[in-house]
Amino acid sequence: MSDPVRYEREGEIALIVIANPPVNALGQAVRQGLWGAIDRFAQDDARIAVILGEGKLFLGGADISEFGKPMTEPFLPDLCTHIEGCTKPVVAAIHGPALGGGCEVALGAHYRLAMQGARLGFPEVHLGLIPGAGGSQRMPRLTGIGPAIDMMAAGGSVTAEKALAIGLVDRVATGEVRAAGIAYAQDLLEDAAPVRRTGDLPRPAFDAATFDEARALWTKKARGEVAPLVAIDAVEVATRMDLDAGIAEERRLFFKLMETPQRAGMIHAFFNDRRVSKLPELAGIAPREVSHVGVIGGGTMGAGIATACLLAGLTVTLVERDDQAADKARATITGNLDAAVKRGKLDDRDTALARLRTVTDYAELRDADLAIEAVFEDMDVKKDVFARLDAVLKPGAILATNTSYLDVNEIAQATGRSGDVIGLHFFSPAHVMKLLEVVVADATAPDVTATAFALAKRLGKTAVKAGVCDGFIGNRILATYRGAADRMILDGASPWEIDAAIKAFGLPMGPFEMGDLAGLDIGFLTRQRKAATRDPRDVVPTWADDMVHKGWLGQKTGTGYYVYEGRKGIPNEAILPLIEAARGDRPQQTFTPEDIQRRYMAAMVNEAAKVVGDGIAARPLDVDVTLLYGYGFPRWRGGPMHWADTVGLPALLDDIKSWAQTDPYFWTPAPLLEQLVAEGRQFADLNT
Ligand code: COA
Repeated sequence: MSDPVRYEREGEIALIVIANPPVNALGQAVRQGLWGAIDRFAQDDARIAVILGEGKLFLGGADISEFGKPMTEPFLPDLCTHIEGCTKPVVAAIHGPALGGGCEVALGAHYRLAMQGARLGFPEVHLGLIPGAGGSQRMPRLTGIGPAIDMMAAGGSVTAEKALAIGLVDRVATGEVRAAGIAYAQDLLEDAAPVRRTGDLPRPAFDAATFDEARALWTKKARGEVAPLVAIDAVEVATRMDLDAGIAEERRLFFKLMETPQRAGMIHAFFNDRRVSKLPELAGIAPREVSHVGVIGGGTMGAGIATACLLAGLTVTLVERDDQAADKARATITGNLDAAVKRGKLDDRDTALARLRTVTDYAELRDADLAIEAVFEDMDVKKDVFARLDAVLKPGAILATNTSYLDVNEIAQATGRSGDVIGLHFFSPAHVMKLLEVVVADATAPDVTATAFALAKRLGKTAVKAGVCDGFIGNRILATYRGAADRMILDGASPWEIDAAIKAFGLPMGPFEMGDLAGLDIGFLTRQRKAATRDPRDVVPTWADDMVHKGWLGQKTGTGYYVYEGRKGIPNEAILPLIEAARGDRPQQTFTPEDIQRRYMAAMVNEAAKVVGDGIAARPLDVDVTLLYGYGFPRWRGGPMHWADTVGLPALLDDIKSWAQTDPYFWTPAPLLEQLVAEGRQFADLNT
């Protein structure tokens, strides 16, 4: 392997070049190399040094793959202090991201240059951590406490221009980083610029109101996540301690977080985000070109999909049944785009809208590279749409269905080109939600699957490959843990106790609040659909049917499991007699929040293990990603499979077996779970 840190000379200037692809992470060899380069600079006759990164960025931060393992010297905080301690000026020349440890190295330098397009930030809270190499102590000395709290608690970053405005960098330049770094160093030499240590700056002023406000905000926002509040504590340390003591205290807080399950969960999620789209069967397979997308159906889902495509710069032709419906779809999309402008996701609504056509004739799809149907969830309706698409689409075009549970193999049969058919299951609102389930049917051609993954990337979504079954990965697992919640109601828990316990676990909403939000008629219709094929041992929440009959459909009617004043609900006690009637003479028990969480999670994990065992999800990590991005599972818990590994599979299986004694049908252990327990392994062992 070539040297990860090179020492070069340009006249009186030393260039310290970090070359550790792909992201110049600060692994042990880079830290060692940087340390040695600073020593060499101290000893030779160069008058100023410039640290810069080779490739697409400055430094991507500490090497995350080293976290959780014993740390090896030189340690990053010592390296930053070593750079700062240098007796000749050191410049950091930043292009692309300078994140976490990368930003801390820059703060150790005496001068900072940022190229246009650079971003400086502290994303550590997204890994369950805080800056651990002086960042929380040096940044507030440069910028004051406000910007430091904002960045560190949120895990955010700023542009080069913003960094200049808040005093985080000294100059912004355009062009090529090496040349700009040399030019800046020359200017500094001409000005006889002295060594200027951030650590010598006075402690930033303490302001109780700023800290109180930040803590109140992040207690609410972080919802169970510990790192953002610790990040605020660390910034407060900077107002009270000298640099060395502050760095030691920051390090203590950092290591405390390093030991938490939250850190392990979030790092699991970080690597899963990248592994989920790496499918061995797609290696080397080129995706098809997609620039023009057809969308069939302009309801909430179709309009959302069209919006997502327009936001990604694609051309969209949306087909509706008549002009009125087409106009309505256009209005919905326009509203979505306006909202995107407000959220800063889009510069110009009209440029995006100019790429949209709303039509009523399928023949207008003749040039589309991909058509996605988002019509009513009914097999006959879908088959009709697919037959029409088959008749008009050009050869090589992809035919996608947005069904959330129907058999994609059967839909494909309605065409003469089943190799071109795939499921693209978006989540509502489709232009906001990150998850895309890519449902690969028996005959789907590999390059069609590759195209779906490429499209997801273009749309800024996380794609997960799923097999064909009722509900695919996410909705199939959802149906089971919802079933566990219904059973707990029959056994004595109230819907409000269940919601509270699930929120305390870290989900944004409990299952019954979620039902109210989505509309209780949706679950009702699903139960109707399944009525004919239902197993007699399935629990039917008759109280929920009763609620629908009374017109209590949730938020949209103002009454459901809660009674609403606006979005805020209070428990609707009028449902208790309906629940009592459903319980009949079934034995009742009390549930603690922990009991509720345990059952709910066990049901989720057991079904997920069946989903993996059946090959519907390729690996446990695909389930974790699905639940994180589509179902609000807290990122700091890593995902349900990661959670299961942390609590231990044998204990989980014991629980399931104990509940199976009274309800063997629902609590049938997943064969994969039994196998892993028998072999002393865990889900993580299957994450290839
Ligand atoms: N340590 C170890 N590996 C890292 C890493 C880090 N800090 N940052 C990225 N990687 C790895 C990724 O896992 C990926 O590996 P793979 O190709 O084997 O899957 C590879 O580097 C490329 O990363 P990717 O995220 O796909 O590249 P990108 O160009 O889209 O984004 C970054 C680059 C740096 C913006 C992005 O990787 C990132 O945000 N990294 C995390 C930064 C961070 O949190 N640093 C703080 C640590 S204290």
